[in-house]
Amino acid sequence: MSEQNPFHDPLRFERSVPPCTLVIFGANGDLTRRKLVPALYRLAFDRKLPQGFAILGNSRTKMSDDDFREKMREAVEKYSEDNSFDSGAWRDFACGIFYEPGDVNDPDLYQRLARRLAEVEKKRQAGANVMFYLATQPSQYATVVEGIGQSGLHEGAGWRRLIVEKPFGHDLRSARELNESIRRVFPENEVYRIDHYLGKETVQNIQAFRFGNGIFEPLWNRRYVNHVQITAAEEIGVEGRGSFYQETGALRDMIQNHLLQVMATVAMEPPAVFEPDAVRDERAKLLRSVRVMKPEEVLLNAVPGQYGPARVGGREVLGFRQEPGVAPEAQTDTYAAVTFYVDNWRWAGIPFYIRTGKRLPKRVTDIAIRFNSAPLSLFRNNGAGEQLPPDIQANLLILRIQPEEGISLRFLSKHPGDGMRLRPVSMDFNYGSSFGARSPSAYETLLLDAMRGDGTLYTRQDMVEASWQVVEPILQVWSETKFDFPNYEAGTWGPKAADEMLARHGHAWRIP
Ligand code: BG6
Repeated sequence: MSEQNPFHDPLRFERSVPPCTLVIFGANGDLTRRKLVPALYRLAFDRKLPQGFAILGNSRTKMSDDDFREKMREAVEKYSEDNSFDSGAWRDFACGIFYEPGDVNDPDLYQRLARRLAEVEKKRQAGANVMFYLATQPSQYATVVEGIGQSGLHEGAGWRRLIVEKPFGHDLRSARELNESIRRVFPENEVYRIDHYLGKETVQNIQAFRFGNGIFEPLWNRRYVNHVQITAAEEIGVEGRGSFYQETGALRDMIQNHLLQVMATVAMEPPAVFEPDAVRDERAKLLRSVRVMKPEEVLLNAVPGQYGPARVGGREVLGFRQEPGVAPEAQTDTYAAVTFYVDNWRWAGIPFYIRTGKRLPKRVTDIAIRFNSAPLSLFRNNGAGEQLPPDIQANLLILRIQPEEGISLRFLSKHPGDGMRLRPVSMDFNYGSSFGARSPSAYETLLLDAMRGDGTLYTRQDMVEASWQVVEPILQVWSETKFDFPNYEAGTWGPKAADEMLARHGHAWRIP
């Protein structure tokens, strides 16, 4: 595979990027403004984009190329994480931005896009490669792909690739249907399903940490690991996306995709080689080993929550049901906590607790691996005669994904002074201070990878289906159960039932 692709570099560095045009459907939407164009601008600023790279945006709104450029300039100024906006760099980048208005249901749009593409390629010498990006409402994905297929836009002198933004379906059946529509037009190896969590530097670093070092992997199994906690907490609410979120919920929005992918990265076997399919085969295999719950197991192992109104940090925060666009009786989960088991030789019997929620006390994503305690508590009766609780005694490895990026290892140490009083201390690695360099955003990494034809950090249809298989029984039972929502106050760590779920195993959630 790698031999056929001159742009593929197995170690994923010093790879050149072929020229191409990126056609964005949904170019007037939130994703384009907040993530895609700021990431592309940053790549241009860092001189990582190929000469002649071009963007051709489409949405229904009537705009000229210049109107669109102006909108994107505002977006880049507003959403770039750091102060990288530079009017000279922007001017060069903006020369390659074009726009074609039109409704994706109108077959004529695709003919117009074909003509614009030919013009853009000639003007920019962008080469004949085209990458399509589906950033529309998910309900339009199949229509767009069909339009591309019927108009012949999927064929040409260069390569044609398709990037699909999540959600990949609403359940297993719709995920398969969507995939069928895509497969009729694009071969699987030209389809890039984005899961932006896989593009985060710290998530990529899990592989470096596990497979680049000799000392951790021997401990990375059921003999030494007691349990794993994966937390993705958000302080924000649904930010004006109430009506979308009402139909989605936390389990679908975060666990089905991002957090199961993170869990797969933590728990997978080492790949034979570091190549896209070898890595993805291992993630897929892991996802297929996650136990699918029986209906009667669901309420014991999966807890939904929904936030109610509260006063947080001196200001009133609306409950989910009071958000614009949300029904007063909505049964949506704005919080979800699930106990997963991985039924394979490495992990049999070890709980993987995953939780995520909106309106929690702070934004933090991390993975905590709790190791077994020492077999014998030698120091129990020394010192002040106190006994540290098991959760404090045990070694803990924390992989910090965001906002602080790093790794900490907690262990017990002797407190200075008389006797053998032990206290937990920690060894910390911090990305910022160790490397002093900015980490590229997930979209920067992923867009560049797709241009190079490297799908390592993208998900595949088999993984999408395996994840749906795992969450479907939960969705099913939750949809048939009437929960007493709201069950946590905005600004708190979620419902009591989630604490009880862990307490039944003798565990407790960490406060990250
Ligand atoms: C998106 C979800 O996929 O991920 C959002 O739809 C969520 O609801 C976001 O806020 C979180 O991403 P990040 O990178 O900010 O952790």
